[in-house]
Amino acid sequence: MAQIFFPAQKKYLESFRKKGDDLIVEMEQYATEHKVPILDWHSADFIEKLILINKPERVLEIGTAIAYTTIRIAKCLHKGSVVHSIEKSADNIKIALENIEKSGISKKIKLIQGDALSVMPQLKKKYDFIFLDADKEDYKRLFDYSMILLRKGGIIVVDNLLWHGYAAANRVPSKYSKSTQHIKDFNKLFILQQNLDSMIIPIGDGIGLGIKK
Ligand SMILES: C[S@@+](CC[C@H](N)C(=O)[O-])C[C@H]1O[C@@H](n2cnc3c(N)ncnc32)[C@H](O)[C@@H]1O
Repeated sequence: MAQIFFPAQKKYLESFRKKGDDLIVEMEQYATEHKVPILDWHSADFIEKLILINKPERVLEIGTAIAYTTIRIAKCLHKGSVVHSIEKSADNIKIALENIEKSGISKKIKLIQGDALSVMPQLKKKYDFIFLDADKEDYKRLFDYSMILLRKGGIIVVDNLLWHGYAAANRVPSKYSKSTQHIKDFNKLFILQQNLDSMIIPIGDGIGLGIKK
């Protein structure tokens, strides 16, 4: 596996990590034990700060997994604001629903079950904040739908844009070559998008941040 940070920097940043509440810690442990890919803690911290600054009323997450970031976002939302999260894996949906129930803030969260590629064209109301974190081969199409659903001035965050370091590597193991190409193609699209003020930030696995013009 390639890497984005040198181990010393990674360790140093982790020394400043604040402990989450019991459910957040439990979800992180579950994800490690069951090999469920959830958002890197540092990226989740960053998204929390964006939510606190931006104060969105309607948030859309594409790719819920076990609802780790869904719950972290919901905890930062103002009264009356909501996060909708789309997930297609039946196994993940089961665990996500249990975690949402345990969170005590289920009123702020709506889990939409299904493939985002079919769900998103059905959504009509705009969102203030969109977090895209799904299968990399679907990123381009999910991003196109996101740009339709994002209001002017709204924020889009996309995970994995440095793709374990492979996006910038000269040699990529064959196992990762296809997914790396998807990410590299997506990064050009994300940065060159006319109606988006966008950048890629080296946090976690590389976070894309865009503001719709
Ligand atoms: C990296 S995980 C999401 C992690 C989660 N956002 C978090 O921050 O903890 C990706 C999830 O997206 C789901 N997924 C991938 N492609 C999808 C699609 N087209 N529609 C709905 N869910 C999708 C996968 O089943 C998986 O649970």
